[in-house]
Amino acid sequence: MRLDPQKLRAYYADPPQDISLDDVDLGRIPSHVSIIMDGNGRWATARGLDRSRGHVAGVDSLREAVTTSVRLGLDVLSVYAFSTENWRRPQREVDLLMHLFATTLVKELPLFHQENVRLRFLGDIDALPDRTARVFHQGLDETADHTGMTFALAVNYGSRAEIARAARELARDVAAGRLAPDDVDEGAIGARLYTAGLPDPDLLIRTSGELRLSNYLLWQLAYTEFYVTDTLWPDFDRWEFLRAVAAFQGRSRRFGGVVGS
Ligand code: IPE
Ligand code: IPE
Ligand code: MG
Repeated sequence: MRLDPQKLRAYYADPPQDISLDDVDLGRIPSHVSIIMDGNGRWATARGLDRSRGHVAGVDSLREAVTTSVRLGLDVLSVYAFSTENWRRPQREVDLLMHLFATTLVKELPLFHQENVRLRFLGDIDALPDRTARVFHQGLDETADHTGMTFALAVNYGSRAEIARAARELARDVAAGRLAPDDVDEGAIGARLYTAGLPDPDLLIRTSGELRLSNYLLWQLAYTEFYVTDTLWPDFDRWEFLRAVAAFQGRSRRFGGVVGS
């Protein structure tokens, strides 16, 4: 945890009535928060706007979520930006999203440098349109030496595809004699997932009220606490984030054991 209390206080000045920084225990901030950013389309439709405007507005929420995570001293923030199933959307919307990913990343690289954030991708980014893939690799290269928070962006990510990919790798290793079948354990599987080396999420936030995982981190969320808010992603701000952390701190995590043992 790399929390600067003074910066954090300044960032969380002017609280609304129901939540303030005093409602969270700064000594028990989750290490890894993951977010399913949902509701951009509904946000736009409710305003009589094209869905694309919701995605554009969602970028501002994402920038704020990154800054909030840095201020709170998280080790990892991961977000679900585009699923393997999202290719089913109208071509125009897919094109807009791919364009938005590339332009946003280029624009936000200075923020990653300033905050010492290391970028990572979850998903098959080499199957993305050329420019988007190129910019993503550039982002990886340029932030590789950063030692602060890890920001993991799930794009062209599907959990079942990820697990199948890990299984293929294991099969190859076994077939080549590099791995014994008895060594295929949870660690060997975890090391072949896109999240290799990252701690499992402590807290999963899903915006816009949907009570499902939509093929996200099925393996990694085994003991994660879930927080679902009706707030649509473009309306999700630092205060919503704090409400989620406060709710998380009110949970009793047992990991299959008994409280207090
Ligand atoms: C989430 O918002 C963004 C992506 C999946 C890319 P949606 O576009 O799913 O918004 P809704 O769910 O239609 O409101
Ligand atoms: C999940 O949202 C994927 C992302 C947020 C990227 P969707 O909007 O695609 O999920 P469903 O279709 O409602 O399950
Ligand atoms: Mg959605």
